[in-house]
Amino acid sequence: MTVSALASVSLDPPLVLICIDHSASIYNTLSKATHFIVNILSEGQEALARRFAERGSNRFAGIGYEKGQNGAAVLLETLGYIECEVVALHEAGDHDVIVGEVEVAMANEGKPLLYYRGGYAQLER
Ligand SMILES: Cc1cc2nc3c(=O)[nH]c(=O)nc-3n(C[C@H](O)[C@H](O)[C@H](O)COP(=O)(O)O)c2cc1C
Repeated sequence: MTVSALASVSLDPPLVLICIDHSASIYNTLSKATHFIVNILSEGQEALARRFAERGSNRFAGIGYEKGQNGAAVLLETLGYIECEVVALHEAGDHDVIVGEVEVAMANEGKPLLYYRGGYAQLER
């Protein structure tokens, strides 16, 4: 699913968090998951962001991806990815805050896709 609620939490150990809506179709799976992967989209991948935010579609149909070391999906040609082991889950309103310890991180050259004031954008510099 497309997630903008991603933040770094700690350097030692390396922790990140994602926030997942209780009403998301993947919520039940994700709330029981032991691992997840965050794919960081590059500026040309708006179509992927839209696709993974669409309700009910087969999001992986026709998409280039492979399995990461933890078995979750690594999308191809992204800016990078972060493989995580879930170490904590906190309920917060209508979302869960899922904290992951970074096991593998990979970064490629490029610029990120941004989401700002309800629209997709690119860095100017
Ligand atoms: C740019 C963008 C950012 C989003 N960020 C989040 C997020 O941080 N957490 C979340 O739970 N949903 C987020 N969503 C919504 C989910 O991607 C989307 O509602 C969900 O995948 C809808 O389909 P589903 O309920 O069938 O899973 C975001 C959507 C968009 C377009």
